Amino acid sequence: MGKKSLEIAGPNVDKNTGMLHRAYAFEMQASHFFQYIANNIEGLGVLFEDFFGERAKEEQGHAAQLNDRLTQLGANPTDDPAEWAAESGVGKVESRKYLSLRSSLEKSLELERFAIGLYNDLAKATKDNDHGTYQLALKLLTDELEDEQTIEDILTRLEIKDERQKAAA
Ligand SMILES: [Fe+2]
Repeated sequence: MGKKSLEIAGPNVDKNTGMLHRAYAFEMQASHFFQYIANNIEGLGVLFEDFFGERAKEEQGHAAQLNDRLTQLGANPTDDPAEWAAESGVGKVESRKYLSLRSSLEKSLELERFAIGLYNDLAKATKDNDHGTYQLALKLLTDELEDEQTIEDILTRLEIKDERQKAAA
């Protein structure tokens, strides 16, 4: 725990720490989802294995940064994977249901958008008081916004292909 870190984190530190715990649980779920998809995706989706593997690593990196910030504020994240679904607010992810390329991308988009909401809320809550957490929230928000755009772009290209197939039929 950083004594000064805690001292300057402002009066809402307990609430902010709660949001960091929540984000950690979410990132662990998201990381596992992406890795599971990378390992098990079916059909043409195998061409995207590396994409999902990279996302898994990225989310694991986010979890590590949240863990660091929690440590600075004198807390440790949960060590119980059984608590992640409730703690994050996402619920069970059920990765095995999303093994086709389209369904995995759609579920990914849902998760990225959840993360965007989470880091946007965290940024709002910490702006002008807990600068350390605020900076981290902005950094992670930027990553998740980029991912949302990338996945939307992939899905749009799939959509165009579908429309052409429809037109040809
Ligand atoms: Fe993330």
